Amino acid sequence: MAVIIGKNIITLGETDSTNNYATRLVKAGSCPEGQVIVADLQLQGRGQINNTWESENGKNLLLSIVLYPNFLPIQFQFQISKVVTLGIFETLIKYTDGVSVKWPNDIYIGPKKVAGVLIENSIMGSRIDTTIVGIGLNVNQLEFKSNALNPISLAQIVQYDIDKSVILKELIENIDRWYLLLCDGQLGIIDKTYLSVLYRLGKKANYTDKDGDFEGTIIDINPIGQLVVRKEDNVTREYHFKEIEFSHY
Ligand code: BTN
Repeated sequence: MAVIIGKNIITLGETDSTNNYATRLVKAGSCPEGQVIVADLQLQGRGQINNTWESENGKNLLLSIVLYPNFLPIQFQFQISKVVTLGIFETLIKYTDGVSVKWPNDIYIGPKKVAGVLIENSIMGSRIDTTIVGIGLNVNQLEFKSNALNPISLAQIVQYDIDKSVILKELIENIDRWYLLLCDGQLGIIDKTYLSVLYRLGKKANYTDKDGDFEGTIIDINPIGQLVVRKEDNVTREYHFKEIEFSHY
């Protein structure tokens, strides 16, 4: 049984974006911590960096979770990404092998993206006031129009239709458990587990940064959530989101 997340669930046929819906609820001043909003269809589903999020009506999980992690100084905001992606990871490994977390907060099966997370924080002083965690998890969609995100669904892997209510319950319980560890200050286990499931950790691969293409190896995530990569010349660089691009081969 989840402790914080999912005690209240609003289920919508359609909305503009569950993250927008959650933002409106918070602004209205009546939104408990752990509120979940789930929709079958988003008319303006949003991805990271102004991308849209493709999802066929009723096929996938589209949800937002409202959190108030006021205990978390802003420099540790990446911990939220970690606990959310770990909860998604744990949910998916019950269904298939080959799941990993691609920094900062995509979930992959093999080389393809099965889920994305859009986290929107509002800050009060030096702390996080409200966090809206938007999750798009491809469950039963069998065809994708946009190839840009390298998409795949769980059903394409397991070859059967998945009961969305079952996977939603598992997802909520798993994220709740990781979030409770964060509330309890257990950063060691969170950091260690996140690193252990990281896509391409310790493997040579091709990347692009402001200086061009290079071969490098992901060796760590630093305390503020930057990706630490060792380049060919043994120089180590630390990247914020969007300062480094992963090649798809
Ligand atoms: C990404 O680009 O990888 C993040 C995708 C996040 C999509 C989810 S779907 C539910 C929630 N509402 C949105 O508008 N976006 C997030």
